[in-house]
Amino acid sequence: MKLWGGRFTKPTNQLVEEFQASILFDQELVEEDIQGSLAHIQMLGECKIIPQEDVQKITDGLKRILERVGRGEVQFSLEQEDIHMNIEKLLIDEIGPVGGKLHTGRSRNDQVALDLHLYIRKQTVQLVQLLSQLQVVLLEQAEKYIDVILPGYTHLQRAQPVRFSHHLLAYASMFERDLERLVDSFKRVNTCPLGAGAMAGTTFPIDRNLVADQLGFERIYDNSMDAVSDRDYLVEFLSICSLIMIHLSRLSEELILWSSEEFRYVELDDAFCTGSSMMPQKKNPDIPELIRGKTGRVCGQLFSLLMILKALPLTYNKDMQEDKEGVFDTVRTLTGSLQLMVGIMETIKVNQTQMRENVEQGFSNATDLADYLVNKGLPFRQAHEVVGRMVLFCIQHGKVLLDCSLEEFQSFSTLIEKDIYIKLEVISVVEARKSEGGTAKVQVEKTLKLKKQKLVEIRTWVQDHNKN
Ligand code: ARG
Repeated sequence: MKLWGGRFTKPTNQLVEEFQASILFDQELVEEDIQGSLAHIQMLGECKIIPQEDVQKITDGLKRILERVGRGEVQFSLEQEDIHMNIEKLLIDEIGPVGGKLHTGRSRNDQVALDLHLYIRKQTVQLVQLLSQLQVVLLEQAEKYIDVILPGYTHLQRAQPVRFSHHLLAYASMFERDLERLVDSFKRVNTCPLGAGAMAGTTFPIDRNLVADQLGFERIYDNSMDAVSDRDYLVEFLSICSLIMIHLSRLSEELILWSSEEFRYVELDDAFCTGSSMMPQKKNPDIPELIRGKTGRVCGQLFSLLMILKALPLTYNKDMQEDKEGVFDTVRTLTGSLQLMVGIMETIKVNQTQMRENVEQGFSNATDLADYLVNKGLPFRQAHEVVGRMVLFCIQHGKVLLDCSLEEFQSFSTLIEKDIYIKLEVISVVEARKSEGGTAKVQVEKTLKLKKQKLVEIRTWVQDHNKN
């Protein structure tokens, strides 16, 4: 028996039943659905729309259903289509026809919107928490390896030496922006759609703010049509998640490169790698590869939702049911990726010797020779030309700048003196970059300190928002 059966003269076609049901995935919202119904029924009681004794029966019934769900005793049915009607049907079976009063002044349209707001709110706080754990690990490693130097790259060609910490802190900066984005988006998610009814409001004397307060919402939607058709907060959520995945993917790519025989900069812990079924020597970076691969599907979910919404007329359209699977999949994927990245970064082994060797082999101090000449009065463009010729000379003679004799230096420019040997040392090159945000130790330490302070703020935010 359908809850909406009155208008119909025939049973639903079996294929329609299967095609339109969302219960197989929206049961993920069971807790939110019951939480929302509990707040709704309490408000109906307080506004004297439903007698208090019925409110009590419905409240008790909903709580018992929630417990049964928790114990895994509930079997949801395809015939009841979605989580909302499944719960309502279970309630009526549990307490009798009085259960049918729950849906007074409410539609599934504002109900599903409420469930999704509650769900995204919860997931946003959890993701902030998880991402700040990764941030803690990055900052700890940056502190630990502050004196390790590796080549910095542009075009994947050795460019200038940097502190390993500086490299890690670049990721910390990306994740810090992601944390800010999640925190900022929470303001908009924290808006209550319930009370919009199907789309135009309701004839019952409801109190929308009562429900909103009870559920910890900061405000209510000011337009009932927007309340039921808005999915902007999902687009925003998926877009932030996509960006986090892209940042994780870039980090993964570096871990994959760096752990290869060609680089040998890091070693991933055995617990986070897998072997080959054929080649006994292999230790593969499957987890970073999977994170990189899964980034595609998270970005795909964002695009899919944008396309679902693209030409929808107001207000609710069934197309919107397609918003959920991508969101649930994204939460699962991002949560798993973050947890694993925490583990990988916590246990990573850093091969300082190899990093150092690569710095010393190359010409990553060439800019410093040019800057030296500039300091002696040569225009930068001419200095660039002189050093370029000198690098070519070194390549032809199979050596690096520091292998050259003073006479050789001076044959390219008489401005060069003995102090050049100190200036071109790796540590001098790194420490010379004292500009704000540069790789010199003072600057890296300063950034590290600021990031730690920011994390304290974020953690306080998590504590304040973990309640609901
Ligand atoms: N299962 C639906 C969804 O997820 C719930 C809302 C259905 N509303 C309706 N009028 N058919 O979107």
